[in-house]
Amino acid sequence: MKFEALKELDSGYIAGTYSRYALGVSKAEGHRLFDCGGRELIDFSSGIGVASVGYGNPIWAEAVKSQIDRLAHISNYYYTEPMARLAEGLCRRTGMKKVFFGNSGAEANEGAIKTARKYMSDNYPGRRDTILTLTGSFHGRTIATLAATGQDSLHKNFGPFPEGFVYAEANNIKDLREKLTSRVGAIMLECIQGEGGVIPLTKEFADEIAAICRENDVLLLADEIQTGMGRTGKFLCLEHYGLSPDVVTLAKGLAGGLPIGAVLFGEKTEKVLGAGDHGSTFGGNPVCCAGGCAVLEILSEGFLAEVAQKGEYLKEKLLALPGITGVSGRGMMLGAELKDGLVNTEIVAACLKKGVVVITAKHKLRFLPPLTMTTEEMDEGLAVLKSCLE
Ligand SMILES: Cc1ncc(COP(=O)(O)O)c(C=O)c1O
Repeated sequence: MKFEALKELDSGYIAGTYSRYALGVSKAEGHRLFDCGGRELIDFSSGIGVASVGYGNPIWAEAVKSQIDRLAHISNYYYTEPMARLAEGLCRRTGMKKVFFGNSGAEANEGAIKTARKYMSDNYPGRRDTILTLTGSFHGRTIATLAATGQDSLHKNFGPFPEGFVYAEANNIKDLREKLTSRVGAIMLECIQGEGGVIPLTKEFADEIAAICRENDVLLLADEIQTGMGRTGKFLCLEHYGLSPDVVTLAKGLAGGLPIGAVLFGEKTEKVLGAGDHGSTFGGNPVCCAGGCAVLEILSEGFLAEVAQKGEYLKEKLLALPGITGVSGRGMMLGAELKDGLVNTEIVAACLKKGVVVITAKHKLRFLPPLTMTTEEMDEGLAVLKSCLE
């Protein structure tokens, strides 16, 4: 279908919740997208950190296709092997004890919030009911995860919100201490705030949170939806900080392009939710879980070391480009600060015209390439970015 016809069809029937760029994607292979006219684009976005092992990765594609032929769906009344195997793999990689599967990041965070509330209600009835989150955070678009999200701009028009959330300024230990009332029983955080502008937590701030959680039986809920699954060069970003979580949430790259979300429970939380407390019709879908098992197989320790190296390479190359004044983030999750006068959305649009896909985070350019992208392909894309910045 030609782009103009697609655009007209889409705007005729798709709800206007997304402001889109002028690109229709008809196909993807490896680290490249193909538009409606067959034009090739190098992709530094991987569908916002989802196609982490590349489009059509043969190991992943084979696992998914054979699972579709075998069993595409069955209800959670019954056992299926891909679901159990993926949970086993995730626990082995992270040291967590149990897993609940849903379908998206927001749904995973809903599960984490319910777990924290039940833990507080079981252990501190009438005394604890509050989850502390950070300003600038992003935890999802459902009502509870929006309430958890520490960005006022996203709260407008959607109230009333569920109670039980309090916000502390990210990387401000004094504010954290002030907001930590006796009612707080859990802290939810992203080690690097993705949607908030690729802002990493400082080590001191993370250490403070770890101490608070340890000393006060406050649960640590790590939202690794954007940072997890090898994105920063470790399986989980919290490994860079030495944090021990009670709950971890994953989604995005977990199944390499299929919809999935996961809540991982540690020792303190593995038995908090019992039969009937939580559920999801599609959660643990065998096809998505087969995709997830293939992703785990691909993310070996050697692969993660390469992600770290390629991330350093990309960071250095970005820093050398005209118009880029700083680069934040870690591994292959980077945010580039632009010099005054350059508008990130204009650069993105110019790059799209010239065959490169980048995205934004607040006022920065954001890079979340497939983790399998080579340095040669990075160079190819960066040459185009350079011409747009000039
Ligand atoms: C850190 C974080 N948490 C939660 C979400 C929500 O995930 P989803 O869009 O799959 O619901 C996102 C999505 O960008 C995210 O980056």
